[in-house]
Amino acid sequence: MTEKKMNMEQGHWVLAKLGKRVLRPGGRELTAQMLEAMNINETDDVVEFAPGLGQTARLTVAHKPHSYTAVELNEEAASRVRHNVNYTNMRVVAADAAQTGLPDACATKVYGEAMLTMQSAPQKNAIVREAARLLKAGGLYAIHEIVICPDDAGSELQRTIEKDLAHSIKTNVRPLTLSAWRAVLEENGFEVVWTKQSPMHLLEWRRVVADEGWGGFLRIVWRMLRNASARKRVLNMRSIFRKHDKNIQAISMVARKRA
Ligand SMILES: C[S@@+](CC[C@H](N)C(=O)[O-])C[C@H]1O[C@@H](n2cnc3c(N)ncnc32)[C@H](O)[C@@H]1O
Repeated sequence: MTEKKMNMEQGHWVLAKLGKRVLRPGGRELTAQMLEAMNINETDDVVEFAPGLGQTARLTVAHKPHSYTAVELNEEAASRVRHNVNYTNMRVVAADAAQTGLPDACATKVYGEAMLTMQSAPQKNAIVREAARLLKAGGLYAIHEIVICPDDAGSELQRTIEKDLAHSIKTNVRPLTLSAWRAVLEENGFEVVWTKQSPMHLLEWRRVVADEGWGGFLRIVWRMLRNASARKRVLNMRSIFRKHDKNIQAISMVARKRA
């Protein structure tokens, strides 16, 4: 990839090209807690929005759900999921999570990680509404995103965080406060039943080792040493995460579809 292209690439694809597989703010640990709270089992029809490289998909199919469907906007990522995840009753749809084309009430559990934060307010609502449409009454919808704290952070601070993150990650980044995430879910037919927050340490070395293992960590460092423009991008993202360390965290929420 040319230096110019690397400088414009969205942050998560820069990380993926360096070998990073876990691309969500709370890492594997928060994902594991979210999946435990969802209690996926043999009776479930699961839909995942934005599986990326399919890492959480693998954990999900290990619970042997009745079916697993991935909805991924990026065609290349969709074929990576087809290739990386092996499950009999599985399908991968290359589509926008706001308009999946799947039938009403086809799922008992829906989740999406690190994908709502990057949407505008209308897109967030459209995606959460689509999750509600896909779920049977009583079904669960889980998210894993970035939260702004404290809850009463002023709008000026919120705009600064959005601007810094968007400039560094090169994509729309619109994290919400806890109350605002709750409101998006409640206004679209859900009742929040579980919430967990953790530090935004996606690019801190301890978290990278925890998420990718020592081998993965060393591979990323090696590739960063050989690619100055990718290294600059990663260090810039980490400096922005550190700058706002007190005001951004990872959050996961599980919500139940109201009858
Ligand atoms: C930061 S990555 C997260 C990937 C994965 N969920 C993970 O946590 O490792 C964001 C992913 O969201 C996908 N995405 C963004 N907007 C989407 C949409 N509207 N519908 C489906 N997928 C979307 C991108 O293609 C990308 O794979």
